[in-house]
Amino acid sequence: MKKFPKGFTWGTATASYQIEGAWLEGGKGPSIWDTFTHIPGRIANGDTGDVTCDHYHRYKEDVALMAELGLKAYRFSLAWPRILPDGRGKPNSDGIRFYSDLIDTLLDHGITPWVTLYHWDLPLALQLELDGWLNPDMAGIFRRYAEICFENFGDRIKHWITLNEPWVVAVMGYSKGIMPPGRKSLTEPYVVAHQLLRAHAQAVDVYREKYQPKQKGRIGITNNCDWREPRTNSEKDKQAAQRSLEFFLGWFADPIYRGDYCEVIRKQVAERLPTFTAEDKALLHGSCDFFGLNHYSTAYVSHVEQDRIVEVDVYQNGGILQDQELNLSADESWKKTDMGWYVVPWGCRKLLGWIDNRYDHPEIVITENGCALRDHVEDGAVNDTERINFLNGYIGACHDAVEAGIKLRGYFLWSFMDNFEWALGFTKRFGINYVDFQSGRRIPKASAKWYSNVVKNNGLAET
Ligand code: GAL
Repeated sequence: MKKFPKGFTWGTATASYQIEGAWLEGGKGPSIWDTFTHIPGRIANGDTGDVTCDHYHRYKEDVALMAELGLKAYRFSLAWPRILPDGRGKPNSDGIRFYSDLIDTLLDHGITPWVTLYHWDLPLALQLELDGWLNPDMAGIFRRYAEICFENFGDRIKHWITLNEPWVVAVMGYSKGIMPPGRKSLTEPYVVAHQLLRAHAQAVDVYREKYQPKQKGRIGITNNCDWREPRTNSEKDKQAAQRSLEFFLGWFADPIYRGDYCEVIRKQVAERLPTFTAEDKALLHGSCDFFGLNHYSTAYVSHVEQDRIVEVDVYQNGGILQDQELNLSADESWKKTDMGWYVVPWGCRKLLGWIDNRYDHPEIVITENGCALRDHVEDGAVNDTERINFLNGYIGACHDAVEAGIKLRGYFLWSFMDNFEWALGFTKRFGINYVDFQSGRRIPKASAKWYSNVVKNNGLAET
């Protein structure tokens, strides 16, 4: 048995827009995702999150299923426009009541809630009135929203995540344009990333100043990163792989753990990169109690000159390659998930090592890892052996990291159930519970039963 340390956190994760539905109920205001999904042609099959898993009405059933599977922790996000319909101003008591009831239900079932304040569903009013994350005033507005959440839920929430994957907001929303607000710019992603970092810092500041001393919770941010392996042993490829990781994860983690943007980003992006004031820097530096990581895949990296860059499919998470002078590729022998993401568990082990080393041994929590597969129901069951293999590989890599002394403290599987996968709509199934989107019925897949055993045993059976 590959045992994990006592107290290791095992959970699953979701996000508000992907599972809640009830987009116009309970006093909720519209979010940028509500309007984006209603633009013809933006989402696969014209799907929307209007109803999705209908978790807003079925949350009790969902929590009961978590408890039945023996899951110990659950990461979910708050829909900002459910709490503040216009993004600021007077809180919506129905929205607060919904999350309060969800939290109580989780606690009644012995499940520890981990809350993300922002998983991309920005109140539409803030986009229309202020240009959303391009506006420097957003940091203060997010601080106020965060404060309302700490005030209302902080007595029961001890694990806070300010932002989910600011990289995706900046790159997919402002460079690739496949997520709202659907823009394609070479400059805006850096501005948006900058304002997101400042917003994170403001939320942490108010938590530490007013709430943490009493509520005694912990706060961090979740960043996403794939592993980047040099294609060859040449110095140039090694440097390119390092550069790729700095552009992916260092972009957000360096200001938090090292006090400023990476040198290579400052050099390559030059005048397009905003600079932090001394006050911003002071607030950002050290602003995380744990290192939240979402990890899904790996790619090879080779150095190339700027004019020879080959754009990769947006879902290969290249980022703004023009600024990085590198190409990404894969090994023919690597297996692919339904997202086209390569299954490379050793990449997870290497990334954890890179974080441990670069950021001075922080406590790390994997806040998402999982895979999309073409699951189907046969005789009432979903036999997702491929997902079990995937999880076995990645959780095994986590175990290797723990054995090597890396302070990995938790693992959240994406996702608790199949849900609305952003621009890809309902075409991708990431859940360990199957959702029939016609009837709303949940069916635990074979992987749910398998994961339930991992949690129960606090480890993996040797295979
Ligand atoms: C993450 C995101 C999740 C989920 C997952 C699978 O980037 O945080 O919301 O969609 O990817 O693509």
